[in-house]
Amino acid sequence: TILSAIKSTVDPSTRVVFSVNPDSTVVENGKYDYAIVVVGEPPYAETFGDSLNLTIPAPGPSVIQTVCKKINCVVVLISGRPLVVEPYIGAMDALVAAWLPGTEGQGVADVLFGNYGFSGKLARTWFKSVDQLPMNVGDKHYDPLFPFGFGLTTKAKK
Ligand SMILES: *[C@@H]1O[C@H](CO)[C@@H](O)[C@H](O)[C@H]1NC(C)=O
Repeated sequence: TILSAIKSTVDPSTRVVFSVNPDSTVVENGKYDYAIVVVGEPPYAETFGDSLNLTIPAPGPSVIQTVCKKINCVVVLISGRPLVVEPYIGAMDALVAAWLPGTEGQGVADVLFGNYGFSGKLARTWFKSVDQLPMNVGDKHYDPLFPFGFGLTTKAKK
């Protein structure tokens, strides 16, 4: 999991605190340096995944807002497609679209902690709101949150 990978990546003196759905008391009393907020979709296949709203399932959005309001945060989004993030983007310090990493939680931790560089580029346009869809490069109404091909390439920390 991403959690077990984080635990095996941090310095032994670093305290990792895990909470499934932290309320504001947990957040305010913790004296945390950073928060890694992992939210996303449950597994689905074919029509079981159909969604007309493409929202992050609850409690994802409220966790982002509760935690990122108080703590420097990176949000890791686990999803098989772009989801609505535009309303929360201002609250986040960083957003990682991890897609569906399967068993490779360590791959997520490796880049979060800078042991390896990021080299992701969007293979899809990331919309702002579902009423823009469908929206593809070249469309007159093309006004994405993140355009096709957007992404970071960073180097590993020394
Ligand atoms: C979005 O759609 C999904 C799937 O149809 C549904 O389960 C969910 O409740 C909807 N969410 C909102 C916020 O409307």
